[in-house]
Amino acid sequence: MSGYTLWFTGLSGAGKTTVADIVERELRERGEPVEVLDGDVVRTNLSKGLGFSKEDRDTNIRRIAFVADLLSRHGVGVITAAISPYRETRDEAREVMGERFIEVYVKASVDECARRDVKGLYEKAFSGEIKEFTGVSDPYEEPLQPEVTLDTESESPEESARKVLAFIDSRVQTAAGSPR
Ligand code: ADX
Repeated sequence: MSGYTLWFTGLSGAGKTTVADIVERELRERGEPVEVLDGDVVRTNLSKGLGFSKEDRDTNIRRIAFVADLLSRHGVGVITAAISPYRETRDEAREVMGERFIEVYVKASVDECARRDVKGLYEKAFSGEIKEFTGVSDPYEEPLQPEVTLDTESESPEESARKVLAFIDSRVQTAAGSPR
C-alpha cells in the first residue's frame, strides 16, 4: 500500500501514544513499513530545546509534518502522536501531505485526562506550577472534520486501535477498487 500519515491529535493523557503503539505493533506484524513520531520522543531529539509557546509548538508540529511527509511519500505508514493543539497548523500539515494525511482525533475530556493524570502534570497545571498547559491554561482546538475519532473514555485502547486499522483497510480497498 502507498504511504500515509495517521496524524493523532488530542490532549496530554488522552491515549495517543497508547493507541499509536498498538496500531504500530499490528502494522509491523503485517510486515508493513511503519514509523512513529511521538511528541514526547520528538521533543528529546528533533525538537530538543523547544518549549510550549504557540510559536514553539508550531515549530515542533511543522518539523513533525516535514518528516512525516518525507517518510509517507516513500511508502511508509507514519503515525504522529503530538498534542498538535492548533487547527491551522494541523491544516498546514494536511495541505503538505494531501490525500496521505489522515487526522485521528483522540478524544477525552480535560476532566478525564486529569483524573488519569498518568504523568502527574495536570495536578501541577491546576496548581499553576506548570504554565500554558494544554486544556487547562492553554488552548486545544478540536478537529472539525477528522477522518477518525477515537472516544477513549468509552473505548478500550484495543477497540480504538481496531477503528484506526479498519479505516486504513477501507482506504486500501477503495484505492484497489477505483479505476485509477
Ligand atoms: S505539542 O503541543 O507541541 O504538540 P507535544 O505533544 O510535543 O505538544 O508535547 C506534549 C507533552 O509535553 C505532554 O504529553 C506532556 O508530557 C509534556 N508537557 C510539558 N509541558 C506541557 C504543556 N505546557 N502543555 C502540554 N504538554 C506539556
